[in-house]
Amino acid sequence: MDRQPTQNIPYSEHRLIRALWRQPVDRTPLWIMRQAGRYLPEYRALRQRAKDFLVLCKTPALACEITLQPIQRFDLDAAIIFSDILVVPEALGMKLSFVEGEGPLFQDPLQNSQAIQKLPLIDVSSELSYVMEAIRLSKQALGGRLPLIGFAGSPWTLATYMIEGKSSKDFSKIKRWLYQDPQSVHALLNHLSHTLIDYLQAQVQAGVDVLMIFDTWGGVLPYQAYLDFSLHYMQVIVSALKKMMALQGPQALKKVPIILFSKNTAPHLIAQAATGCDALGLDWTASLSVARQCAGHQVALQGNMDPAALYADPLQIQQAVKKVLDDFGSGYGHVFNLGHGITPLVDPEHVQAMIEAVHRYGVQDPQKEG
Ligand code: CP3
Repeated sequence: MDRQPTQNIPYSEHRLIRALWRQPVDRTPLWIMRQAGRYLPEYRALRQRAKDFLVLCKTPALACEITLQPIQRFDLDAAIIFSDILVVPEALGMKLSFVEGEGPLFQDPLQNSQAIQKLPLIDVSSELSYVMEAIRLSKQALGGRLPLIGFAGSPWTLATYMIEGKSSKDFSKIKRWLYQDPQSVHALLNHLSHTLIDYLQAQVQAGVDVLMIFDTWGGVLPYQAYLDFSLHYMQVIVSALKKMMALQGPQALKKVPIILFSKNTAPHLIAQAATGCDALGLDWTASLSVARQCAGHQVALQGNMDPAALYADPLQIQQAVKKVLDDFGSGYGHVFNLGHGITPLVDPEHVQAMIEAVHRYGVQDPQKEG
């Protein structure tokens, strides 16, 4: 397969798309969670000029420029649209700021069931039109060279921020609510699910080639509560999108693979694969080989090098990459990634070493069936 970086590649020939459909590839594709972010000096420069993180998200030309930064520097197999999962609650009327060094902050977190009932039904293609515009600009700039990943937070993960107000250590507010008044939490998750179905549908219509649902905080829930409060709503979203993708005629939605990433939830792999998603993202605590045995006949797997391994020297990084690739083993259906987002202190040279190692050790024979 000849893959010049300037070439316009047909949709179904991209390495990432093929791996997500579990089709043969010439080598394991890779991209990096948070690949456009603070470890890149070019991102930090733009961020400093814009002052405010939300300004970057809400200015399509800047969001597009940042989306392209990592793929201009590195030979990656996908771009991911630059945005944040929290633009959805913001579009629902919740005042959001990003405090330097402290992360996201909602001025008025949800405190009672009335606040949930008051959340508006929104038209995402107008309230979040800046995301769609950033997608259209990025697609144009990519010109078919690489697929573009769109994303959203899971209902549960968005609800944690909307109720806690910020990143939390113990999730005591949302958990107290969950045990005292589960119906209100379900009402919130339901509302978010409907909004997220529209949002992800609009992203596909704007041009994204893959969808990913980030469930960063599913792993804080007990076994059954994870199924009821986190996985159930992701399943609702996946089913609704798959239904639209199965339609024929003008109403049909382009068929794109859906990746589900629920951090710290290895005990739930089999249930996750049964949602009908196409791939599961794994954090670094999971074993790719075990996951493959359990779910590899149903889904592709994405992951899962420890992001902290990028602090090691390049030779050790090579070994860490090789371990991840060996853990998956030979055959198809693997997308190399970190087990969670890349951290700000990582040296871009070390990222380069990781990418070169995936290129070297991830070579496959595309004639051989997986
Ligand atoms: O992956 C990418 O390159 C695409 C962009 C992207 C961002 N956030 C940009 C961002 C994506 C996919 C996200 C997802 C996101 N945002 C998640 C789910 C995935 C995960 O990492 O768990 C969550 C929980 C958020 C919420 C959020 N946004 C937090 C907790 C923070 C602060 C922590 C941090 O890393 O600073 C953000 C801010 C944020 N989102 C930054 C970036 C590049 C840093 C903002 C800055 O420049 O100061």
